[in-house]
Amino acid sequence: ATNQTFTMIKPDAVQDNHIGAITQMMEADGFRIVSLKKTRLTPERAGEFYAVHKERPFYNDLVKYMSSGPIVAMILEKENAVADFRKLIGATNPANAEEGTIRKKFAKSMEANAVHGSDSDENAQIEGDFFFGAGERF
Ligand code: CMP
Repeated sequence: ATNQTFTMIKPDAVQDNHIGAITQMMEADGFRIVSLKKTRLTPERAGEFYAVHKERPFYNDLVKYMSSGPIVAMILEKENAVADFRKLIGATNPANAEEGTIRKKFAKSMEANAVHGSDSDENAQIEGDFFFGAGERF
């Protein structure tokens, strides 16, 4: 069925001027952009977004990194959106990311890995709601 996922272009990729190239890869793979916003997370908001990782050793660095500069948040729509999008972005660790994936092309490290993608339909909904209201979905 057609459904939605949520993504962010992370601070490193925005800083390096890759917004266009990354959204191009998304659209070329059949994703439609339902919502799109450039914004900056405060450390508090970044901490809230990644609250599921609170106990992980990388949490504090992740919060610092994700609030270090602007990001681009998007809701994307496609058949089988969550799983297909995770295929398109590739492995979290860019060393393991396959050829043709966004992370293979743009990720610099495990942390600065260019993009986020929701890991379930439920989280896609929660994460989309974190950034976008009802009047910002088209
Ligand atoms: P993301 O898919 O946005 O979800 C959690 C983020 O934490 C991940 O991408 C990385 O940016 C960051 N991260 C840093 N270190 C790790 C790690 N060891 N395992 C998983 N994620 C990590």
